[in-house]
Amino acid sequence: MDNKNKKILITGGAGFIGYFLTKHLLEEYGDNCELVLVDNFQRGKTDEDFKKLIGDKRIKFLELDLTDINSYGKLGNGYDYVYHLAAINGTKNFYAMPHETLRISTLSLIYILEWFRKENSQGKICFTSSNEAYAGALSAFGKLPIPTPENVPLVVEDTYNPRWSYAGSKLVGELFMINYAKMYNFRGVIVRPHNFYGPRAGYDHVIPEFSQRIAQKVDPFPIYGADDTRTFCYITDAVRAMRMLMDSQNTDSQPIETVHIGDFKEVTMKELAEKMFEVTGWKPNALDIKNSPEGSVKRRLADVSKLQKLTGWKPEISLEQGLKTTYDWYLANPKK
Ligand SMILES: NC(=O)c1ccc[n+]([C@@H]2O[C@H](COP(=O)([O-])OP(=O)(O)OC[C@H]3O[C@@H](n4cnc5c(N)ncnc54)[C@H](O)[C@@H]3O)[C@@H](O)[C@H]2O)c1
Repeated sequence: MDNKNKKILITGGAGFIGYFLTKHLLEEYGDNCELVLVDNFQRGKTDEDFKKLIGDKRIKFLELDLTDINSYGKLGNGYDYVYHLAAINGTKNFYAMPHETLRISTLSLIYILEWFRKENSQGKICFTSSNEAYAGALSAFGKLPIPTPENVPLVVEDTYNPRWSYAGSKLVGELFMINYAKMYNFRGVIVRPHNFYGPRAGYDHVIPEFSQRIAQKVDPFPIYGADDTRTFCYITDAVRAMRMLMDSQNTDSQPIETVHIGDFKEVTMKELAEKMFEVTGWKPNALDIKNSPEGSVKRRLADVSKLQKLTGWKPEISLEQGLKTTYDWYLANPKK
């Protein structure tokens, strides 16, 4: 790593990934960085962890709405890297406000790309897409290669189902990124996160839900889709992969790269629950096995060989370690 001072913008900086990415960049670059974090707390109020983080002298926090074009005049310029994370996340939100999911994601991306190409085109920009962008390809074509590489078709399965507002916004986002970068000749990376987990990730995913049920000693313990498999990538490994992709000269050429980020160790939902019983020291007398949630796929496994080839990344945090840290955080910070 060079010692040149790096100026970095993170949109959605108060969110789950933004928070851990900020911590990682501070550790990685030390005093050779200045970070500008932007968020409008759409996800919720600020919290003590975030307040403490932005107390660091290397961080400047701007409370701005990125769907307001006037916000962009306040960002300044001269950024080496821009991580554009701001979006509506969480499946419940896709159903409750699909129009906002589309508007916020698309408008903020168009505005940031316009700002970037005019004010900051010497820098490099990262856009967080999602595995949801290709999830519909499975029902459309009957199968997907497993592990799934980046170049499978992106599909919106049902335009009338509000759930697909999110996947649709990411599909459009990828097209904007690729074509803007090509047209204006700037550097960029599209990443597709696969089940990042850790503290402060919200309360509507499987690991926070298992954590809450364990804390409440729910017995029999419900498990939906016990044989379905997923991989889980601990957040510090995930943000390290994002940073390595941005730092790598292998991602400096055109067309820009789209890269899957995820772990490669598959676990069933039942195994996940059992691992959590092990690390928390509590075990129910019985399991209550239920059907998979509607629309859920049996297996999702990303091919992460491209990430490894570009950066040499490997996960460092074992599932046991990650689950223990995550559970402890949820125990101390129960859903209000
Ligand atoms: N967490 C995952 O595993 C995962 C998986 C797939 C994709 N992603 C993508 O990664 C990105 C970050 O995800 P996350 O998990 O940190 O989500 P998050 O909801 O925790 O963070 C998103 C942040 O964006 C902010 N934001 C929303 N609208 C804004 C606006 N108009 N102006 C300024 N800020 C705004 C929110 O307040 C929030 O803090 C998102 O684009 C998400 O779609 C995440």
